[in-house]
Amino acid sequence: MIYSRIIGTGGYLPDQVITNADLERMVDTTDQWILERTGIRERRRAAPEQTTCDLAEAAGRRALEAAGLKGRQIDLLIVATTTPDHIFPSTATKLQERLGGAGYPSFDIQAVCTGFIYALDIADRYIRTGGANTALVVGAETFTRIIDWTDRGTCILFGDGAGAVVLEASDTPGILHSRLRADGRYRKLLWVPAGVSEDQREAKDQRPFVEMRGHEVFKWAVNNLSKIVDEALAECDLTRADLDWLVPHQANTRILAATARKLGLPMSKVVMTVERHGNTSAASVPLALDEAVRDGRIRSGDMVLLEAFGGGFTWGASLVRF
Ligand code: UT7
Repeated sequence: MIYSRIIGTGGYLPDQVITNADLERMVDTTDQWILERTGIRERRRAAPEQTTCDLAEAAGRRALEAAGLKGRQIDLLIVATTTPDHIFPSTATKLQERLGGAGYPSFDIQAVCTGFIYALDIADRYIRTGGANTALVVGAETFTRIIDWTDRGTCILFGDGAGAVVLEASDTPGILHSRLRADGRYRKLLWVPAGVSEDQREAKDQRPFVEMRGHEVFKWAVNNLSKIVDEALAECDLTRADLDWLVPHQANTRILAATARKLGLPMSKVVMTVERHGNTSAASVPLALDEAVRDGRIRSGDMVLLEAFGGGFTWGASLVRF
């Protein structure tokens, strides 16, 4: 039986820090409101000349270095992003050229904040079916580029960054199970109304910025995230007590706390970066994972649950033995 294992992680955050005090000068908000309602103190913003591919490259190189590999040694590259450098070609093909090597499949995945979980599942299936031996999976975003900086309901939440993992074929598991979900009926609760095809036909007045009905998204996330975690655990004949770490999508401290409470997990088992990163969409899970691997919290043998939700709606969970 072939499985895939995570053999290296990497992360990258751009230098510019946007604090809550900075946002107080831009919109009608306060540090106290943001902290109480979201748990976020600061987030990062890419420099004007930095693109999603630049962030993805930095995180990808760190993951490859941790795995002891060169770019040309991978044979599958997936970039999960909502903010690609261009409409086409994909950010993944641009990244492939930079990392070296050519010919192997490279493509982007769009599942907004769940993108990394989707990409990880696809890479895992490639490896388990013999289609690839070594895969680089990146979640990268310059989400601040699609933020309306006059909308206090969204501009306080999001940030830029990238995280990555290297997967390798192995005869011991690794990724035990991934569960992906989507429900398009909720797509307009969190979306960017402007587009390519639709925009050109009829939506000329729509602006290319995130629009969100935050409270409804919040309630939906709290009600559904613990369910998918329980489903993933049941599929593997595991219980909540078997989990060493929960690495959730970093959207809002209150959502993370409510999910942990529903799962009966102490917060000491939850990896949290939202205070310093904000919500980096597809980058948030691999960035948090990389931080906990590098600071020694996640160790070899640990059972780790990754979960995310986002626009679409999409949501998903992966159970990973390190
Ligand atoms: O990856 C998935 C992405 N999305 C999310 O995870 C978002 C999930 N939702 C949330 O995190 C929360 O809903 C928010 C943090 C966005 C908002 O918190 P809330 O407790 O749901 O507040 P609310 O939207 O119900 O708004 C409460 C009040 C409103 O004022 P009124 O109508 O009661 O007078 C808002 O206008 O707070 C106001 N408000 C703000 N006040 C100060 C909204 N944004 C702000 C702000 N500063 N930045």
